[in-house]
Amino acid sequence: MSPASGWIGPSGPTARLVTPRTPTPPIARLAGDTPASEATVTTAANPRVSFGFRSDDTEPEVLSADAVVDLAAARHDSGIDDVLGRLDAELVGLEPVKTRIAEIAALLLVDRMRARFGIDAVQPTLHMCFTGNPGTGKTTVALRMADLLHRLGYLRRGHLVSVTRDDLVGEYVGHTAPKTKEVIKRAMGGVLFIDEAYYLYKVENERDYGSEAIEILLQVMENNRDDLVVILAGYADKMDQFFSANPGMQSRIAHHISFPDYTVDELGQIAALMSEAMGYGFSEEAASVFGDYLRLRVDQPWFANARSVRNALERARLRHARRLLAQPGAVGLAELSTIEPADLLSSRVFDGGEGQVPR
Ligand SMILES: Nc1ncnc2c1ncn2[C@@H]1O[C@H](COP(=O)(O)OP(=O)(O)OP(=O)(O)O)[C@@H](O)[C@H]1O
Ligand SMILES: [Mg+2]
Repeated sequence: MSPASGWIGPSGPTARLVTPRTPTPPIARLAGDTPASEATVTTAANPRVSFGFRSDDTEPEVLSADAVVDLAAARHDSGIDDVLGRLDAELVGLEPVKTRIAEIAALLLVDRMRARFGIDAVQPTLHMCFTGNPGTGKTTVALRMADLLHRLGYLRRGHLVSVTRDDLVGEYVGHTAPKTKEVIKRAMGGVLFIDEAYYLYKVENERDYGSEAIEILLQVMENNRDDLVVILAGYADKMDQFFSANPGMQSRIAHHISFPDYTVDELGQIAALMSEAMGYGFSEEAASVFGDYLRLRVDQPWFANARSVRNALERARLRHARRLLAQPGAVGLAELSTIEPADLLSSRVFDGGEGQVPR
């Protein structure tokens, strides 16, 4: 089902149990429980296109001023329509974000065409800041961005290295610089995604090692901007404070992109996409109950947009499985893959937010 087709899913069971997803670009996660040294960094599956920016490409001859270039063909060859099409089909809403991404793609393509005429275009700065509440799609879009920039020849590798403060900042004198440089080394040729970047800077402690990491990042963002794109992510208000305290960082960010909270309708479409990908469908009544669930959930604590939808679906699957096991007799594909109202109604969300609300 297409995300544009609206509300939550077919009234009957979905026919497919497993929907193969389009492979997502690679992500090397340095945060969390994976030690930095074990994080895997792989390159994107797509080979780099031949009209890339980079000097190791065979440069075509400079065109004469009266020549013409086939923008449509270049666009086709780059594969950007494929990335933008997938972005549109697989990510619900996010219109301002999608527009900005399309603009960046167009700029890089036009720049490349200008270069064919010998115009020595200044490499655009593509460091970005993604602000928005939890679960609004920042990490997901950063991955797509890495893929797109790779296809456009702007990035050599197109992988994404996701870090938080702990991956960059050490606890003792002399630890921070090697840590930060190691992360940067891994990210070279791709995107360095710094989640909750403002924690790098602690207002109350000017001797905090975070400022050392910031200094190194600032240098790399300036000197290596043709080989590394840094994306800072986090809440808008904290990011504003961070920029006020670190004007050097602010001046190096070319694109500030804000991710709005999803509407209940968009959350419903996201649920439809996610459940289809898991090989489930909602019965008509369950779709209506899930709409009620979302309307309550958005106002309850710890609401995290699309992430809360994913978590709600996981819990619905658990209840669904328990229900099936509790009932006697044989079951068919329809029962095995259809979420019913009973799988949703026992959620604590329907208790008026009493007790601990699930995230
Ligand atoms: N617009 C969307 N359409 C479909 N799925 C989405 C959309 N936005 C987010 N998701 C899904 O929701 C989940 C959370 O998204 P993501 O991790 O990108 O959010 P985030 O903004 O990085 O959150 P956090 O601030 O908590 O890190 C992912 O599973 C992602 O695939
Ligand atoms: Mg994230």
